[in-house]
Amino acid sequence: MKIFLDTANIEHIRHGVGLGVVTGVTTNPSLVSREGKVDYRKLVQEICAIVPGPVSTEVLGQDVKTMVTQAREIAKWADNVVVKIPASLEGVEATAVLAKENIKVNFTLCFTLNQVVLGAAAGATFVSPFVGRLDDIGEDGMGVVSDIVEYLDYYKLPTQVIAASIRHPQHCLMAAKMGAHIATVPYEVLLQMIRHPLTDRGIERFRDDWKNVMAREELL
Ligand code: E4P
Repeated sequence: MKIFLDTANIEHIRHGVGLGVVTGVTTNPSLVSREGKVDYRKLVQEICAIVPGPVSTEVLGQDVKTMVTQAREIAKWADNVVVKIPASLEGVEATAVLAKENIKVNFTLCFTLNQVVLGAAAGATFVSPFVGRLDDIGEDGMGVVSDIVEYLDYYKLPTQVIAASIRHPQHCLMAAKMGAHIATVPYEVLLQMIRHPLTDRGIERFRDDWKNVMAREELL
């Protein structure tokens, strides 16, 4: 499973890419707004220059014409930019238009398999089910991811699943077990993924044992 970072924070993106594990980034208007008053285009271009793979950037329009116009503009910003289009009826139509022009679409804000069926049929490169937000309202976010993976596999469709709205390492683990192509994770979750108290204790014990052996050899 590929790991993308779900952030617009340059420092965090540099760290994740520097670790050698982050190959893409997803942003959204809320994440960009957390970075303060920024030049949207410049920020996205800076991110695209750091990240080796796809960088998803959302359109703000809601009707087909505005979404398509914005997407065509965004697509010119960098070679690795991907346009996020919401899973509305207008979004389906916009995705179909853009896919025919070879503009990569991340069909976002997906909460059901039916939305994904339409997004994939329209030619979306990625679909993003929002796991945490489904869990928040008492639904089974990971269950939806599982259905989507099974559906895309069954029909051998090229669309890739990005498990999104990830809240904790358990979501990543389940996404990996289910066969999601990608998990887009907040920076804090990326750091949590590697942690285990037994690893820390093991490293400490090896170090102590080694120091003891060395100390004994010095006495001889
Ligand atoms: C994904 O593309 C979205 O940016 C993101 O995962 C949304 O997550 P949230 O529900 O934590 O806002």
